[in-house]
Amino acid sequence: MPGLFITIEGPEGAGKTTVLQRIVEELEKKGYPIVQTREPGGIAIAEQIRSVILNKDNTKMDARTEALLYAAARRQHLVEKVIPALQKDFIVLCDRFVDSSLAYQGYARGLGMEEVASINAFAIDGMMPALTLLFDVQPEVGLARIHRHDGREVNRLDLEDLSFHQKVREGYLKLAEANRERIVVIDAEQEQELVYRAALSEIEKVLG
Ligand code: TYD
Repeated sequence: MPGLFITIEGPEGAGKTTVLQRIVEELEKKGYPIVQTREPGGIAIAEQIRSVILNKDNTKMDARTEALLYAAARRQHLVEKVIPALQKDFIVLCDRFVDSSLAYQGYARGLGMEEVASINAFAIDGMMPALTLLFDVQPEVGLARIHRHDGREVNRLDLEDLSFHQKVREGYLKLAEANRERIVVIDAEQEQELVYRAALSEIEKVLG
């Protein structure tokens, strides 16, 4: 398939969204055809699935059900948006993809990365990104950034959450180690300008 599929991953507070926005502007200025998206990407069916996952009334949500629903939403977004754009030769930059499920559901929630990989293999049917940028940040730093935005201090609950976020990071780093040909780790603790430049330069490498 022509086009180029690139995904951006990382924990909360890694600054993916802001940097991604700048990258899109820069690449568009250079004349590249870009589709910027994120799961569930405004696809009605995927949004509906996502609202089931996020509905606070669904307290009985089983962890495997959650993983299956993420995979289902991913499938729909891929088929309706990503694949058609790649077929038209667009560069698709997607904020979060299968590695999010592997790190969050597989590793941090403890379902097992292999198990989550296998249900996702069915969902994505071989459509893996050519490049994945992993914005790496220690959870303490990422969470502090989020709280600074909220204007509130880190409380006890946030600290309890820290071990979960630590696991998310560990999961991501394990994935990066096992997929060196695809995943590039970007130090997202640097100042934003440097994160932006590092990310752009990795993308330009694959653009050739
Ligand atoms: P979102 O509102 O998209 O925020 P952001 O990407 O800016 O962090 O929320 C995404 C949340 O959903 C985030 O906490 C990660 C989680 N998530 C999973 O647990 N598994 C997945 O497969 C995906 C795509 C997201």
